[in-house]
Amino acid sequence: MPGTTSLFIPGPTNVPHAVRQAIDCAMEDQRAPDLPAFTLPLYEDVKKVFKSAQGQVFVFPASGTGGWEAAITNTLSPGDKVLASRFGQFSHLWIDLCERHALDVEIVDVPWGEGTPVETYAERLAADTAGKIKAVLVCHNETATGVTSDVAAVRKLLDDLDHPALLLVDGVSSIASIDFRMDEWGVDIAVSGSQKGFMLPAGMAILCVSEKALAARREARLHRCYFDFEDMIKTNDGGFFPYTPPLHMLRGLRASVDLLLGEGLENIFARHHRLAEGVRRAVSAWGLDLCAKEPKWYSDTVSAIKVPDGFDGNAIVKLAYLRYGLSFGLGLSEVAGKVFRIGHLGDLNEIMLLSGLSGAEMAMRDMGLPIEAGSGVAAAQEYYRATAKPVDFSRELALAV
Ligand SMILES: Cc1ncc(COP(=O)(O)O)c(C=O)c1O
Repeated sequence: MPGTTSLFIPGPTNVPHAVRQAIDCAMEDQRAPDLPAFTLPLYEDVKKVFKSAQGQVFVFPASGTGGWEAAITNTLSPGDKVLASRFGQFSHLWIDLCERHALDVEIVDVPWGEGTPVETYAERLAADTAGKIKAVLVCHNETATGVTSDVAAVRKLLDDLDHPALLLVDGVSSIASIDFRMDEWGVDIAVSGSQKGFMLPAGMAILCVSEKALAARREARLHRCYFDFEDMIKTNDGGFFPYTPPLHMLRGLRASVDLLLGEGLENIFARHHRLAEGVRRAVSAWGLDLCAKEPKWYSDTVSAIKVPDGFDGNAIVKLAYLRYGLSFGLGLSEVAGKVFRIGHLGDLNEIMLLSGLSGAEMAMRDMGLPIEAGSGVAAAQEYYRATAKPVDFSRELALAV
């Protein structure tokens, strides 16, 4: 199809031009003596994206799933108890991965559309007087349902109870897009992937690990080899890698981190909030509801939109793609067919998003949903106009041309 790709899935996200150019480089010598001058400052700057001064960054050639595996295999032993909640496909998959690694997962099932149940976590942790729970898992942003959880509240209850469990956080679809504070929230391992807020192609699991979690590797008996922190530490500290690193991706990461720090994390969070709010205005103008049940759960990176009974959300997604070359996220697992998802993260602005909302309206109307043409787009437009940065262009107006 001519024109640009219209990617409104919640990852992979658009890769900015500067990042694409940085990746398009000649192959390099991964043992070149000047490589540490590139990698060491890069890792220091990646830490800033996690808002961490104390943590250590690890970048594995993998995707977010590899990051989950690295997090648990480096800190836990077979049979260890972990506390986790399941409220979407990704929180479910992390639990599944833990179970396949022979961890004893205490699962709290939560209706899809809600997030991490802090009160239930408090009860379970308070009951655990013997300290059997070794790690608490939090999926910060459940991409399947568009729900964001309160990581700081989980930290607070661990502190209030003086519970020693590690706090392991899936930040795959939150980090570098919505507020995340590794050190302030006392997160022990934060897992991210390259293809969402970092605006890179898929292919890197990016982790930040606290000193406490690093120390846990000495006792952790789960099998690990490729994802062993130990091997990474031995070589990373000098600026090198235990196996062939994806250097072109690391060049891209340099460009991405420069863009992120150049825009400023707070500005990025505000931009994502504003873009998301425009989408939410559109959804309400369509007369539809989000899967996220309450505003406190609303995600600023992805909106899962419920379709009325009798309609198939996945058919809307397929039609949008085949007819208009427009990609939205399918409903996954328990919500398959019941929702479709609009990803609004990464290298994105309001005009791009309006084209996605416009295409969503067209596809929904094509499928027979009773959506008034232009209603959602108009609601988002008005919100974006009302919240646009003031521009003084009096000088430009005074010019002849
Ligand atoms: C919240 C969350 N966690 C984990 C993953 C898994 O990451 P990956 O597909 O990069 O392995 C995803 C993927 O979309 C995700 O959204």
